Amino acid sequence: MADPHDQVTITPYRDGPLLVRGPFRLQDMQGRVIDVERETVALCRCGRSRVRPFCDGSHKLTRFRAPSAAERGREPDSG
Ligand code: FES
Repeated sequence: MADPHDQVTITPYRDGPLLVRGPFRLQDMQGRVIDVERETVALCRCGRSRVRPFCDGSHKLTRFRAPSAAERGREPDSG
């Protein structure tokens, strides 16, 4: 079994960002690396952050609501 410290773990926080932990590379659609100075980052999923793709806490002001668990009843988008 793989060591969990060698894997990227993405955790959707209830009413908040996607927390990404582990050895990851963040890049834009053109493949340009987005500098990240931490091993854990919070990615915005509410769309209201002023520092996207990172969370800046704006989800609290906009009362963004989303569960931590996967929502059912809809096929995931492929992008
Ligand atoms: S999830 Fe935090 S600002 Fe969007």
